[in-house]
Amino acid sequence: MLIKKVLLDVDPGIDDAVALCLAMFDPQLDVVAVTAVGGNVPPDQATRNVQAIIEQLDPPRWPRIGVASLPELGLPTRSAQLHGPDGLGNSNFQVSELQHRHPSEKVICDEVRVAPGEVTIVALGPLTNIARAFQRDPALPELVGQIVMMGGTLSGPGNITPAAEFNIYCDPESARGVFRSPATKTLVPIDITHQVSFGYDLLEKLPDETTRAGRFLRRILPFLFRSYRQELGFESIRLNDAVALVSALHPELFEIELAAADIELSGELTTGATVFDRRRHREWRTNLAVATKVDIASVRDHVLRGLAAAGAASQT
Ligand code: BDR
Ligand code: CA
Repeated sequence: MLIKKVLLDVDPGIDDAVALCLAMFDPQLDVVAVTAVGGNVPPDQATRNVQAIIEQLDPPRWPRIGVASLPELGLPTRSAQLHGPDGLGNSNFQVSELQHRHPSEKVICDEVRVAPGEVTIVALGPLTNIARAFQRDPALPELVGQIVMMGGTLSGPGNITPAAEFNIYCDPESARGVFRSPATKTLVPIDITHQVSFGYDLLEKLPDETTRAGRFLRRILPFLFRSYRQELGFESIRLNDAVALVSALHPELFEIELAAADIELSGELTTGATVFDRRRHREWRTNLAVATKVDIASVRDHVLRGLAAAGAASQT
């Protein structure tokens, strides 16, 4: 069995937590580290949530944890409300004191250097940590296996402003740094992740309460259904980060195209927009791959089967 080394960079967030649950119980993955980044919640809370998720799930191998800190320009005050003030649906998980507190960007540098060309970074929050790791170690972009980034919009509207997707909007400077870097990277935009929705029947399909994964998911997911209904008027939820994780493991379920993209830093209405050069005679250099189509049923099925497997592997 081919085991893939992955590092998850997350700003939990309920969909980040679901992605972590899928990854940490996937026997084909070696999750070398989980690095926290501010986004859905401020940096301290993001770190605390990463710890809480790992402690609650208690996976067979505990990954290293990276500690989040504020981006240079701070985080926008208009943050996502879908995940609750604590990011995990007000679940109020207790956490123990972290023994070794290493900054996320250091953990990223260490893990990529230990296995050059082998580590897939799955970036499910703002790109602050990845950009910092690249500044700290300028050779790093070429040592990363690949980066899969959940974020941006391809042609549809944004989800935090009319033009911008949340992860990119939180730290556009870092996103630009990563987009312009020579690392091999794939963007999974909300145009794609939004196509895979989950109805209330998801709650019945979760692993049961006798499993750690089941107890955890049953504590956080009802909140997300409530906020999608109250805030957006939807009867289903999107698990954007889980879909991006599936794309890293099963790219064959997506149509992927090469593209030339950059980030708007300072537009009055468009800060954080992802801009693609789609001119007939494109002048920008191709710098990433982008998911443009998704096999919706198969991705949904992978998520459901992954959650069932997490339950089976976390019986108590
Ligand atoms: C992204 O923003 C966050 O709120 C989610 O966790 C996801 O990473 C979707 O735009
Ligand atoms: Ca996220």
